[in-house]
Amino acid sequence: MKVRKPFVFINCAMSLDGKISTIERKQVRISSDEDLRRVDELRAESDAILVGMNTIAIDDPKLTIKSERLRRERLKRGLPENPIKIGIGNVNGMKLNSDFLNYGKIIVFTTENSNPEKIERLRKKADVHVLGKDRVNLNKMLRTLAGMGVKKLMIEGGGTVNFEFLKEGLVDEIYVTVAPRIFGGVNAPTLVDGEGFKLNEAIDLKLLGTENLHDLLVLRYEIKDSKKYI
Ligand SMILES: NC(=O)c1ccc[n+]([C@@H]2O[C@H](COP(=O)([O-])OP(=O)(O)OC[C@H]3O[C@@H](n4cnc5c(N)ncnc54)[C@H](OP(=O)(O)O)[C@@H]3O)[C@@H](O)[C@H]2O)c1
Repeated sequence: MKVRKPFVFINCAMSLDGKISTIERKQVRISSDEDLRRVDELRAESDAILVGMNTIAIDDPKLTIKSERLRRERLKRGLPENPIKIGIGNVNGMKLNSDFLNYGKIIVFTTENSNPEKIERLRKKADVHVLGKDRVNLNKMLRTLAGMGVKKLMIEGGGTVNFEFLKEGLVDEIYVTVAPRIFGGVNAPTLVDGEGFKLNEAIDLKLLGTENLHDLLVLRYEIKDSKKYI
């Protein structure tokens, strides 16, 4: 039986030329304090936040809500202080003392390619689900999350994860902050990487709104044909 898919949205900051980091592929600050406050509000409205294994390895994001007011408001609404944090990918290289693994409730979705001993060690820090041989089946993953009460899932990159979710038709909206900088480089990660889409597979979007944050522009798009049930 099909279930209602959690509402899934991507939030990402990119340079004018569509790069989400430089050719060094390190963590870079692309947006402004004002934009990060907007991101904090999106986090506070979400039940869970997901990132890919490369982003965990490179950025080691805490993914917590920075504003005390927003955390208090969540508690008043009967929600945990912070959304659930979700990591996806092979766990073999995960550092158990990372910031990602040390704040709040954590769920990791991985595959049979991960080392079983590492999975057992990781289970002390996170709820680990093995959902697939080589790739995590994203539809099954969202069904699992829906069963845990996740209604709104925020995806915070990187480009490979964004592609995987878009390819499966699982994304409902995209927020992208365009910063007035140019990074260039064919090897710099972009908003959507992976194998890419052919012209007849390209994803059509509808612009829902724009917001000017001084030099930055925030664009909000709806994906026209996203799945509603999985
Ligand atoms: N500007 C921004 O807003 C922003 C936000 C986030 C990240 N970034 C940047 O983006 C870059 C990282 O992006 P990235 O594209 O290299 O990596 P990524 O999307 O963070 O992670 C990719 C990895 O996630 C795992 N994965 C994704 N889909 C999967 C699936 N269906 N099943 C199993 N595993 C899956 C795979 O891990 P395994 O290979 O281990 O299986 C894959 O290699 C960094 O430079 C980071 O700083 C920028």
